[in-house]
Amino acid sequence: MLLTRKEDLSSPYYANLHTRHFAPGWARPEPSMWAEPKPKFKPAVWRFAEAKQALDASHNMVPADQTERRNLIMVNPIEGNTYASTRHLVAAYQCVMARDRARTHRHSANALRLVLKGKPGIATIVNGTAIDMIPGDVLLTPGGCWHGHVNETDETGYWIDFLDIPFVQLCEAMFFEPYPDGEMEPVTSRGPTPMRIPAGEALGPGRDAKTVEVGAGIMPTIAMHLMRQPAGGRIDVGKTTVNHLYAVSSGKARFKVEAGTDEVLGVGDLIAVPCWHTHTIEAPEDTVIFRVSDEPLLKKLGLARNGAA
Ligand SMILES: [Fe+2]
Repeated sequence: MLLTRKEDLSSPYYANLHTRHFAPGWARPEPSMWAEPKPKFKPAVWRFAEAKQALDASHNMVPADQTERRNLIMVNPIEGNTYASTRHLVAAYQCVMARDRARTHRHSANALRLVLKGKPGIATIVNGTAIDMIPGDVLLTPGGCWHGHVNETDETGYWIDFLDIPFVQLCEAMFFEPYPDGEMEPVTSRGPTPMRIPAGEALGPGRDAKTVEVGAGIMPTIAMHLMRQPAGGRIDVGKTTVNHLYAVSSGKARFKVEAGTDEVLGVGDLIAVPCWHTHTIEAPEDTVIFRVSDEPLLKKLGLARNGAA
């Protein structure tokens, strides 16, 4: 029951409840439960070309020693949100400029990255292992792993970061630690390492439609899938409580999401598809899409659920 008369809530009875930090369950401003998910987050698209231009421009505005990371966070455009891309995950475009470095740190949040532009000499160092950043590769830094980035080349390296920071913040379980004296962690190994998932290796040769999970079980909150579709291919995704981020790794993909979104994404572009939005992915040309989701988190909590077909 919701009260309709304003004077009810200003009566001495309700004023007294308020001062004692009680709220009457029968007069909530909005319900606390509902029949099925009604996500506040919206479908949203970010373009690599725009991010690259802005990151390049930041070179003259923000010295490297004034930023932990040179990145642009993909903030979902809903009221009051200043950070998250979907409810539990955040994505960001990041670069490390020629001869620059992003100093080593570690945190309780899990992180991974999809390399967009890189080459040998541009590397992520994970727990002492230097991993060259090659386009299409996925690099993992599970929670607690030291990691930093170095660029010993004359070209800028770019990638997309994916992290579960919004969820870790929600849990109030954030820990962050810079490497001592703001230094880079010394390189003790050059691999191989399970923290590098090479482009193409997981999918194998060919151009047939295929979706494979990569890095399964390494991070407790995040699932990663590589999705290959030949030109003319199509994937339909029904209502699910899982929140998705899709980034195009090669080719082009068209995303149609209920409530009006219809966008063609090229390499490096990213779309957030919040839970409970049916969507269709079409391949106007051969494409590989990298999908990042909170599926393991929801499964562990017994909250992974699909809507009626
Ligand atoms: Fe980090």
